Parts: sequence; structure tokens; C-alpha cells
Amino acid sequence: MKSRYDCFELNNGIKIPCIGFGTYKTTDGKGAEVIKAALEAGYRYFDTAAFYNNEEEIGKAVQESGVKREELFLASKVWKSDMGAKETKASFEESLRRLKTDYLDLYLIHWPRRNLETEEWKEVLTETWKTMEELYRGGRVRAIGVSNFLPHHLEVLFNTTEVCPAVNQIEFHPGHTQEITVNYCKEKGILVQAWSPLGRKRVLEHPLLLELSKKYNVSPAQLCIRYAYERGVLPIPKASSRERMMENQEVFGFEISLEDMYRIGSMPPAGWSGEHPDFEKVHF
Ligand SMILES: NC(=O)c1ccc[n+]([C@@H]2O[C@H](COP(=O)([O-])OP(=O)(O)OC[C@H]3O[C@@H](n4cnc5c(N)ncnc54)[C@H](OP(=O)(O)O)[C@@H]3O)[C@@H](O)[C@H]2O)c1
Repeated sequence: MKSRYDCFELNNGIKIPCIGFGTYKTTDGKGAEVIKAALEAGYRYFDTAAFYNNEEEIGKAVQESGVKREELFLASKVWKSDMGAKETKASFEESLRRLKTDYLDLYLIHWPRRNLETEEWKEVLTETWKTMEELYRGGRVRAIGVSNFLPHHLEVLFNTTEVCPAVNQIEFHPGHTQEITVNYCKEKGILVQAWSPLGRKRVLEHPLLLELSKKYNVSPAQLCIRYAYERGVLPIPKASSRERMMENQEVFGFEISLEDMYRIGSMPPAGWSGEHPDFEKVHF
């Protein structure tokens, strides 16, 4: 039987815990306490970003918890406005300082385009990725990857750079499974990660998920997380309470049948955030 302590393997052989803890807005008003609770609940993989403005709190929580650095998997991201060689290096160093560590386990480019208006983004992206490659070769980070990349963004990297991204972190949940991007990444050996694996709660009351959660005697959130895991997509749910932190890891005592995987995978569109790498956010 698999457990929450199992790992996925990245394309460079690095092991990564099969469920991460999402930290966007996690610490709002709660400081390091919520990260400490997540550590106590057993999470070892923390997904943050310079943009989340909480690296300092994560660093503090980790330091005070006494959990050894090598037991942790710390991932951060460079923000759009910090793309470019000099800026990425500086942003990386700042993330390390705030997280109180001298290396990262994973570093991602948060979004592919610094701007939406011009074609200049391709040069900036190439320069940024080359800088990530330098950090990787220099041993400052164990794996490098991207986030919110569609196949045509990844193609820019394949045409101009050397290291294949280890990860692509995209919005992925029932009702928004981005099949073309997922399949493209699988073909290239890139691990897909699911941000908003619960659709930020927007899909948890969907009738199909309610029906299936009764059938499997699990919560709709557990069904979403298990769905990602069974697709080979690494989920990083965010939760505020200890109960939900535990619940979201208890997804290894059941298996979704092939028929139900198909039903979830072919659900009509639902719960999309409206975020798109090439366009302004769509508001519904
Ligand atoms: N790369 C990117 O561009 C990007 C974008 C967005 C997010 N992310 C990452 O992905 C992580 C997760 O995504 P997300 O925070 O957007 O959304 P999410 O994990 O899909 O959903 C979080 C929401 O679900 C609730 N929730 C958690 N567990 C639950 C449960 N068992 N039952 C019912 N409700 C539950 C949470 O409420 P409470 O907090 O009240 O428990 C919160 O409102 C982020 O924290 C961040 O690390 C990355």
C-alpha cells in the first residue's frame, strides 16, 4: 500500500514527496504557526514563491521546528518582474536568505511571460532559464522547473537551452485538467504538479464529486487529491486547520476505478481560476 511518505521521481533522479503543502495565503494573519502545524501534520514539502511574501515565516517555522533541513523539500519561484539574468540571481539569493537555507530543492519560473504585449518575453525567458541552469549546475538548487507553461512556452526552452525542466506546476483539478499540457509534459519527462488541486473549493460541491465521494466514503477534497495522484500529477493542497491538513494526506486507503477516473476526467469545465499565461485574468 502506498502512503503519504511515498515519492515521485524527477527526471534528474531526485525524489520529491508525493503531496506538497501549498502556502499561498496560508500564513495570512497566522504567521509561522500554520507552517508549524503543517510540519506537525507530517508535511515535508512546502511550495512557496517570492510573490507569496511568506518565505520569511516559512524559514522561521522550519528553524523553530527542529526538523532537519535534509528531511525537507523546499520549493520557491521567481516572479515575472524578476525575470532576466541579474534579477533572477538576486531574487534567488533573497529567497534563500528569507527561507534561512543555503540551497533550494526546487526553483521554478512562476509564469512564462514577463509581459503580455510583446514578443520580447521569449528572450527574457531564455535568459532566465539559462540563469536557472547556472544555479542548478552550481549546486545551489537540486532541481529546476517552470510553472504555468503551455507547450509553446516549453518549446522556447527546448529550442534554446540545455536542461529539461523537471517540473511544470499548473492549475489542475476536476473540471480543469489541461490534458494537452499534461500529455506534452509526460512525453518530455516533466512532472506535472497540480496547483489549486481542490479548485480553491470551487469544485468541491460538484454533483459528480459529491456522488463519488459518497461511493468511496471519502471527502470531495480527498477525491480531488487522489485523482491528481492517480494521474501521476503531484498535488499541493493548501489548508488552514490541522484537521484539513491531515485529511488531505489521507488519500492512500482507496483507489478510484478506471471508470470513475474517466468520469472525473471528462467532467465539463468547472472551477477554472481564469488565470492564463498569455492573457489577462478572466473574471467570471
Ligand atoms: N504556480 C502558481 O501560479 C500557483 C497558483 C496558485 C496556487 N499555487 C500553489 O498551489 C497551492 C494550492 O492551491 P490553492 O491554495 O490555490 O487552492 P487549493 O489547495 O485548491 O484550495 C485551498 C482552499 O481549499 C480549502 N480546503 C483545504 N482543504 C480542504 C478540505 N479538506 N475540505 C474542504 N476545503 C478544504 C482551503 O480552506 P482553508 O485554508 O480554510 O482550510 C482553501 O480555501 C497554493 O497554496 C500555492 O502553493 C501556485
